[in-house]
Order: sequence, then structure tokens, then C-alpha cells
Amino acid sequence: MNAAIQLKKVRKTYGKKRKAIQDLSLTIAEGDIYALLGPNGSGKSTTFRILTTLASADQGEIRYFGSSKINKQTIGCVAQNSGVDPTATGRENLMLQGRIYGLPKKALKERVNELLTVFHLEEAADRLSKHYSGGMKRKLDLAMGIIHRPKLLFLDEPTTGLDPESRAELWQMIKQLQSDAGMTVLLTTHYMEEADELADRIAFMNEGRIVAEGTPEEMKNKVGGDTITIQCREAQVAAQVLAAAYHVQQPETQDEFTLHVVTENGAEKLPNVIRLLEKQHIPVDSIKVSRPDLGDAYLLYTGKTLRKEETS
Ligand SMILES: Nc1ncnc2c1ncn2[C@@H]1O[C@H](COP(=O)(O)OP(=O)(O)OP(=O)(O)O)[C@@H](O)[C@H]1O
Ligand SMILES: [Mg+2]
Repeated sequence: MNAAIQLKKVRKTYGKKRKAIQDLSLTIAEGDIYALLGPNGSGKSTTFRILTTLASADQGEIRYFGSSKINKQTIGCVAQNSGVDPTATGRENLMLQGRIYGLPKKALKERVNELLTVFHLEEAADRLSKHYSGGMKRKLDLAMGIIHRPKLLFLDEPTTGLDPESRAELWQMIKQLQSDAGMTVLLTTHYMEEADELADRIAFMNEGRIVAEGTPEEMKNKVGGDTITIQCREAQVAAQVLAAAYHVQQPETQDEFTLHVVTENGAEKLPNVIRLLEKQHIPVDSIKVSRPDLGDAYLLYTGKTLRKEETS
């Protein structure tokens, strides 16, 4: 594996004792989409600021593509707060950004047209961006972040506050940057479904530390099994029957009629569960299996739930 980024025991303290990140070690493979997941204040943006050289670490080692130096032309960054100038049009924002990177005029014009097409912003290109929707603004942010074709892209909460449709559209675009341009993408998010959908690997952060790291699948598997939710007339009795039959922990009854059983291979067990209960004269009204999600995994590692969706 070629590492795009390697962090070894990186630390950052603000003021005398606000430890923003502590002994952070992590490796991001070239070509991967990697997600940092964690609640407010867990150190995600600080990690980004250090990696994009906007802040310096107090201690530790950082390598980019094997080197301790980074050419700023090889990185692109979309900050947590939009960098779009509201008093300029979409096209003007892109042109300005390109000039900052020193792209020659003709090539820049072509690149801007290309990006406006890719991000479905052609029609809005010559309107002031203050009239853009949240999703359009974020797409423009993303286009500005990649105008110079970086190899390494940092996205700090790319879809916070967007509606599900705009979010899905941005996910599609981020995936395309990975598959078509071979970009390595590091993103932060509060949305577990975003990490699940996009990331090859994820790290859970809590209070400046990484508390777990792996593929989304590995993280979910650590939760240990699926949850079977059953609705029936006598949940309490059903719980006893199933506990004995499957040697599982006493299933949890939510109320008189609902119980949850945590078990491996939940889907395979369904027909048998129904048969077993019917034999005991407990007809099943409804039954469903749910796989654990990243939120369950996060809870397991940190005892905290991820921040609920918020609009901004
Ligand atoms: N410039 C700063 N000066 C002082 N403290 C800071 C500064 N930036 C961040 N911190 C502190 O460092 C810690 C980590 O903050 P950071 O912004 O990295 O968190 P985050 O995970 O990005 O949070 P959020 O989800 O809210 O964006 C917090 O306790 C925060 O208050
Ligand atoms: Mg942040």
C-alpha cells in the first residue's frame, strides 16, 4: 500500500491545556476515501488544519506521499464554512480561485467551463452566488477546491445542512473524483450514513483521540450481530422461549408486545423463530431484521451518540 498521508503521534494543544488532538496516529492509503467521524469538538477540523498546513502541530510526524514536505498545489481544501464570495457569480468565484493557483488564462477558462458542467452549475454560472441554494453553494465550494486538480482533497463536513437529494448528488461527485481522477479524499462528517456510503475506511474520534479505525463493515461487525425485532402478543414469554432456544442473552422487551433479539445471522434465523413461537402458541404479528449501523458502532466505542441531524 502507498500511503498518501501518515500521521504519527501528532499533538496539538490550544492555549495552556485545551488538548485539541492527542497522539493521533493514522495512515491513509493513496486513492482511498477516508472519513473522520466524531462529535463536536472531537478534533476533526484541527486535524484538517494541521494537514492542510493552516496550523502547526506541537509534536509528532506527518508524511505526505512518503515525504515530510507538501507542495500546496497537490492539496485541495473545502473548509467547514463556505469559501464562496456571495457578491461574485459562480464563474467569477472559480476564475478567482484558479488565478490564486496561477493557472494560465486560457486553460483556466476551459477548466471553469468543465467544472460548471460536471457540477451541473452551467445555468447558474453567471448569477450572483448569494442567490444559490445551499446545495449549489456547496457544489461551487467543491469545484473551487479542485480547480487545480489536487491529488489530495480535504472536505470538512461537505454536506452538513443539505437536504437528502443534494447530499446524494454531492456523494456521487465525490465518488467520481476518486474513480475518475484517482484522488485521495479525506473528509469529516457527523453523518454515519455518509461515512458508510463513501468511505473505504473510517476513524472514530473522541476528545482528540482515535478510538477505533477500520472499514465501515469491520466497525459494524464489532457491534456483534443483527437485531431481530418481533411483535407478538406475549413478548415476555417469547423472550424466554428464544433465549433458551438460541442461547442468546435474554432478549430485551421494549413493551408488552415488542422484543429485540441480538444475534448473528439474523435473517437466516427468521423462519425458525416464527415456527418456534407458533409452536408455543405465540403467533408473530411482525418481524424484521436490522443490521447494526455505524451509529451503533460509535456508541459501542465512545458511549456517545453522534450528533443528530441539524440544519444550518
Ligand atoms: N483556534 C482555536 N483556539 C482555541 N481552541 C480551539 C481552536 N480551534 C479548536 N479549538 C478547540 O479544540 C477542540 C477541537 O476542535 P475542532 O474544531 O477540531 O473540533 P471538530 O471535531 O471539528 O468539531 P465540530 O464537529 O464542531 O466541527 C475543541 O475543544 C475546540 O474548542
Ligand atoms: Mg469541525
